[in-house]
Amino acid sequence: MNVRSLTFAVIAGCLCAAGIGCMNAPGKPKLQAEAARPNEVLDFPALYKQNCAACHGESGKNGAAIPLANPVYLATAGFENIRRVTAAGVPGTLMPPFGKKAGGMLTDAQITALAQGMISAWSRPSALAGAAPLPYQSQLAGTPAQGQAAFTPFCASCHGANGTGSTAHGGQPGSIVDPAYLALVSDQGLRSIIIAGFPGSGMPDWRSDLPTSHARAMTDQEVADIVAWLASHRTATPGQPYPQHP
Ligand code: HEC
Ligand code: HEC
Repeated sequence: MNVRSLTFAVIAGCLCAAGIGCMNAPGKPKLQAEAARPNEVLDFPALYKQNCAACHGESGKNGAAIPLANPVYLATAGFENIRRVTAAGVPGTLMPPFGKKAGGMLTDAQITALAQGMISAWSRPSALAGAAPLPYQSQLAGTPAQGQAAFTPFCASCHGANGTGSTAHGGQPGSIVDPAYLALVSDQGLRSIIIAGFPGSGMPDWRSDLPTSHARAMTDQEVADIVAWLASHRTATPGQPYPQHP
């Protein structure tokens, strides 16, 4: 388990103990008789702090989940996708559904206030510096073997040749091919991270950090291929022991 999945396990435990954040956990009964959360709150900082900060970080970064205060992420995803994911959650991950229609506790107006609030607080018009963004979702099928080939120039310098990470920088970044990590992240989640990067911690966005002599951005196909390669490391029983190195 890498640091990130461990952090998640702790957060999920705390949120479940507090009765929130585990609405769609398999086998959990639906929460009932919850103290009514005021439907009237439309203030973005208040909504964000109460519902999102535990996982996405106090100011939209440095949390266990993907940073939302990332102008490249916001420009790529756009209002509609952000609103949709906030309302419906991401099944199979710790991102809970917040919209009432999906079993959450926020009204449509509150979801809209959150999506608009993130965009107006954290966007930067110059985020893409004129570059055409990659599509948020890809229509292309990825091929694992091609993904492994693209991983080498674009990712291996920091994540190790096989994605298992390096111990050089205090163990961070940890393994991104560990089934325990992959069990907690969706394919779209991986795609979003690869496109948007992690501002401030050295992970570049899709425009990549190849040396100037052959600098170029990744293509939609390359990102789809790398996601397919990472996803090919998922196992049916992620908690089971498995060999560290084949
Ligand atoms: C220059 C170094 C660097 C390069 C190049 C890089 N990354 Fe990263 N990556 C990082 C760092 C550092 C983190 C940890 C960020 C954090 O947790 O704040 C990270 C985090 C990640 C994560 C999230 C891991 C987690 O625990 O949530 C994924 C997935 C990922 N990188 C995939 C990739 C892929 C795929 C590529 C190539 C397309 C790539 N990275 C290129 C440095 C890099
Ligand atoms: C219990 C932890 C948790 C909480 C609370 C939480 N999130 Fe998330 N969120 C996640 C995780 C984990 C993901 C990545 C899911 C995946 O792998 O696709 C995510 C993904 C997202 C994404 C989509 C990122 C992408 O790939 O496009 C958005 C948007 C988002 N969250 C918004 C919010 C907002 C807004 C709130 C508060 C209303 C919130 N989240 C609260 C854990 C959480």
